[in-house]
Amino acid sequence: MSLQDFLSTLDGLEEEASAAFQNASDSDALEVARVRYLGQKSGALRDVQKRMGSIDKADRKTAGMRLNQFKSNVQTTFDGAKERLSGVASTGVDPTFDPSLPGSRPSIGHVHPVTQTITHLMEIMGRMGFEAAEGPEVEDPWHNFVALNIPEDHPARDPLDNFYLATAKNGSGDRTIEGSQLLRSQTSTVQIRVMENKQPPIRVISLGRVYRPDAPDATHFPMFHQMEGLLVDKHVTMANLKTVLRVFATNYLGDDVEIRFRPSFFPFTEPSVEVDFHWNGAWIEFGGAGMVDPAVFEAVGYDPEVYSGFAFGLGVERLCMRRHGITDIRDLYSGDLRFLQQF
Ligand code: PHE
Repeated sequence: MSLQDFLSTLDGLEEEASAAFQNASDSDALEVARVRYLGQKSGALRDVQKRMGSIDKADRKTAGMRLNQFKSNVQTTFDGAKERLSGVASTGVDPTFDPSLPGSRPSIGHVHPVTQTITHLMEIMGRMGFEAAEGPEVEDPWHNFVALNIPEDHPARDPLDNFYLATAKNGSGDRTIEGSQLLRSQTSTVQIRVMENKQPPIRVISLGRVYRPDAPDATHFPMFHQMEGLLVDKHVTMANLKTVLRVFATNYLGDDVEIRFRPSFFPFTEPSVEVDFHWNGAWIEFGGAGMVDPAVFEAVGYDPEVYSGFAFGLGVERLCMRRHGITDIRDLYSGDLRFLQQF
């Protein structure tokens, strides 16, 4: 066979095979075409290959190169046709996809139960006209103690009852705790910050973290949250305090909640009380409250002869735990999603 004949046979065959692959209307038709042109036993390609032997030695190289090109061209057309006929290319949809199967839900995080409680408490108190105020968690002794009428020698300032911070002196790496800042032990610090910056009437709440070096158990944790409330105006009475706390308790815990005041002592309130709520058959202590001590008003520059006010501080975790039936405060901070996902 002459080289010329060989080459033109390949040209014709290439055109024919490509057309057959491209025109195949389904995969069965494509398979028939594949066997006809590329089949190992009797395909057209095989016949052509056989004829290579009858070509002049000098021309064989050229013939071989053309044959390789033929194979790769035809293979490419075949692959394209195959993809076109498979489900993926024809519809763009995976044929194994079943749209009637239930989908797999993406797992979305949610707000921590204590944060949910905080939002809820702000909403209830907001309806009574209390605005949210904030203060830093790292405090100085003035806001945490002095202005709150807790003098230098008061046991509440004991290093064993507070997280004093070891701060580096002049960047020297020398660590000292003298006269130092501390993690606030109560949100009452925010009362001072608000009154230092604003004149009465005042009606604020502050919700945030406080820190005390308590060993963790079912009811104690070294970090917890308080809701502080402060109302200052002319002619504020203890009856106002009790009413606000009762309205709050019935809104948060339910209409069947009773409220009880027990005499107590805090340096920054006079008189002072412990606040108990009765709910589901038990009295539970939720925090402290009282009428703002005149010494506190003096520290922030208010005239105690003109203004009076009340303050309260309630434990947020306790409220959250009571409402949801949580019995161990440590569960709230274990980071165990199986627990947290319930709320
Ligand atoms: N700060 C007090 C405590 O942490 C609670 C309190 C707040 C008491 C406001 C009276 C008035 O125990």
